[in-house]
Amino acid sequence: MAVRLKDPANTRLTLRFRVFDDGLGFRYEYQVPQVDSVFVMDELTSFNLAQDGKSWSIPASFETYELLYRTLPVSKVDNANTPMTFKTDNGVYASIHEAALTDFPEMTLKHTEGCHFKSELASWPDGVKARFAGGTFVTPWRSIQIAPKAVGLINSGLILNLNEPCALEGDLSWIRPMKYVGIWWGMHLGVETWTMDERHGATTANAKRYIDFAAANNIEAVMFEGWNEGWESWGGMQTFDYTKPYADFDMAEVARYAKEKGIEIIGHHETGGNIFNYERQLDNAYKWYADLGVHSVKTGYAGGLPGGHSHHGQFNVRHYRKVVQTAAGYHTTVNAHEPIKDTGIRRTYPNMMTREGARGMEWNGWSEGNPPEHHELLPFTRLLGGPMDYTPGTFDILYEKTRNSPRRKKWNDLDKGNSRVNTTLAKQIANWVVIYSPLQMASDMIENYEGHPAFQFFRDFDADCDWSEALQGEPGEFVAVVRKAKDKYFLGATTNEESRTLTIPLDFLEKDKKYHAVIYADGEDADWKTNPTSYQIKDKEVTAADTLSVVMAKGGGQAVSFIPITD
Ligand code: NOJ
Ligand code: CA
Repeated sequence: MAVRLKDPANTRLTLRFRVFDDGLGFRYEYQVPQVDSVFVMDELTSFNLAQDGKSWSIPASFETYELLYRTLPVSKVDNANTPMTFKTDNGVYASIHEAALTDFPEMTLKHTEGCHFKSELASWPDGVKARFAGGTFVTPWRSIQIAPKAVGLINSGLILNLNEPCALEGDLSWIRPMKYVGIWWGMHLGVETWTMDERHGATTANAKRYIDFAAANNIEAVMFEGWNEGWESWGGMQTFDYTKPYADFDMAEVARYAKEKGIEIIGHHETGGNIFNYERQLDNAYKWYADLGVHSVKTGYAGGLPGGHSHHGQFNVRHYRKVVQTAAGYHTTVNAHEPIKDTGIRRTYPNMMTREGARGMEWNGWSEGNPPEHHELLPFTRLLGGPMDYTPGTFDILYEKTRNSPRRKKWNDLDKGNSRVNTTLAKQIANWVVIYSPLQMASDMIENYEGHPAFQFFRDFDADCDWSEALQGEPGEFVAVVRKAKDKYFLGATTNEESRTLTIPLDFLEKDKKYHAVIYADGEDADWKTNPTSYQIKDKEVTAADTLSVVMAKGGGQAVSFIPITD
């Protein structure tokens, strides 16, 4: 429905609504005649819930999404970022978010009265919220997903439906989901460094070790952080150079070796937030990588933006879009860390593969970490926007191999020396399925996977998922998801601090086919707090007529791969 309005000065506003089975979206389309520019000073959208309920959200911040979730009565939420999810007192699930945020500041929600919220936009340094050359502009969609069951929110396509169709032309087979490992976790644990010193992670020899491991373990790609000059300036001037490898990292040789082994390289561009330095080198940096055969890049914005700009303001939203467009020009996919929130623009730019935008694995490396309920909240909040590069799969849960290493040095102020992963091992495996990302990383250092029987799950896993369904779940409590990739199925189920058993009918499997189910379960004595690494692997033959009893320990989970039996 389009409601067309006009004022005496001939300003035209079209209020456009789109209503679907699973929710609705609305946006504002303005035409202001005879002006050379428009400044938006505020947005007065209000979301007025008729009834209180239970809500799940992170606080509003225009600088970060790496915050813990809160479970609060709707009426007690002061402010929230979106997706803000809630269950009304009469049992309806819903989530407020936005779609197609490509040229506007981000919207957060501010409590006004009762269960009413007003939209709050991030500002430019001078207080203007959005500025446009000319008098025509269109806002992102304000969206409300609605479902009778919590998993209905996950299974909804509303956010993608509110985005524009693909803007990229020609053969898009260069956009490929991949599994990857990388030189990464060692830095977060403090046993390696991003800078070039005696503990440098990204050396040519180490890179080749990771490439060999990927090639031997059915993993498509590797990623290296700390390969380029500028890391000494991280937290200071933030002047990274995107075409100058450190002297002990022979990029040409690493690229040659990866190609010989059939492994893709995922490049890395940390900006520290200095987007001016990045934009100056942007085109050249993507060209340089593409010439070396690197067609996938992880970006990062860990640090404040210069000039008083906000991370989530219109200025930086335009920057994120420019990066995706520039990358597309070089047939390169993007995985953004410290991104703008996901509002489904991957429908329009499918090379925008995945992003961070919540507390990921890294927080377990150097802080009190992510609590068990975090992974039961992400699917019902952050992940409603789209895929997340959480980087699950840390097997050395208590850091037994590194905690007392002489190489370990504290590098982060939040590190109290007692960090660990707050799940069981089986939950780490299940998170590869639950926390959807078309670029799916196995986060641990490869020495912790060598010879580990449970790593077989990641070897068999396929990140190129064709179909998914969230089967069961409640926000903050538990979730079970199944994904299909080619002819295999993968099931992931996880729980918060409560142990629980789910009964899952396997009717999602193809009828008339037999499957070899390999079950990666919590050990009988597993407990995330006291015995996190206890696990068991069982296998059996199943069909669509069977039902699985999924037993999960406190803070635990279960992953199952179903591989068709061909006789
Ligand atoms: C934050 C990112 O989320 C993390 O993955 C990365 O290692 C650091 N920044 C350094 O770039
Ligand atoms: Ca981060």
